[in-house]
Amino acid sequence: MKIAKKGILVTSFGTSYADTREACIDSVVKNIDKAFPDYDVRLAFTSQIIINKLAKRDNIKIDNPEEALIKMQEEGFTEVIVQPLLIIPGEEYTDLEKVVKKFNDGAFEKLVLGEPVLYGIEDYKIAIEALRTQLPPNSDKDAVVLMGHGSEHYANACYCCLQSVIEDEGLNVIVSTVEGYPSFKKVITKLKKQNIKEVTLMPFMLVAGDHAKNDMASNEDDSWKSILKKEGFIVKTYLHGLGENEAFHKIYINNVQKAIEGRTKVKL
Ligand code: CO
Repeated sequence: MKIAKKGILVTSFGTSYADTREACIDSVVKNIDKAFPDYDVRLAFTSQIIINKLAKRDNIKIDNPEEALIKMQEEGFTEVIVQPLLIIPGEEYTDLEKVVKKFNDGAFEKLVLGEPVLYGIEDYKIAIEALRTQLPPNSDKDAVVLMGHGSEHYANACYCCLQSVIEDEGLNVIVSTVEGYPSFKKVITKLKKQNIKEVTLMPFMLVAGDHAKNDMASNEDDSWKSILKKEGFIVKTYLHGLGENEAFHKIYINNVQKAIEGRTKVKL
């Protein structure tokens, strides 16, 4: 009888900041590892630019998903769960799906792609519950503005669904994105309409990287913080990625469990 060799390949876009990597990515990997003692847990980055930068600058070698899967195949893994640390099933998810599909020809006895944070309708409430653990007390006068990444991909609609469920839950939280819809301009209109005085800016991204540090919280003229200040709002910034929140680790762990049990909506 062939001995089962089981692995979980965690994938992330990656970051070139060592402290952020440790806080927002390695911490999730560590908890997934703890939750699945029978599985060998590995990490791959999807951004080749970051992989190359880390190799050149820090002599750190991180595989892309294809390289990692080739290694796992060569090492005789029988079961592989690929779990992305993505928030929405956008372009990066589609790209990953394509890579994983290449190995769906019997390379492994079992190969499953896990879901991102927001996939099924039920996921939104779960994500909001996780988010609540890092929100300030809900108030009519103060609002939280989330900075999602945003995308040209149709999965960008996830941010609008998130906003809708947030409203169902009665939270004074406004969803916005850097590179998609809703844009930041819409936020100012909403805040003024609601007579909000104080705003907390918070990234809705795995890592508090360049977008959070520069586009959201920097003192540059065009950062969200500066623009809101100029408009007369009191602005606080929360500079932690979702990867620092253990409630989000639990979401990823749950998604791995779903994948193991064949309960994912995504089929390869
Ligand atoms: Co970006």
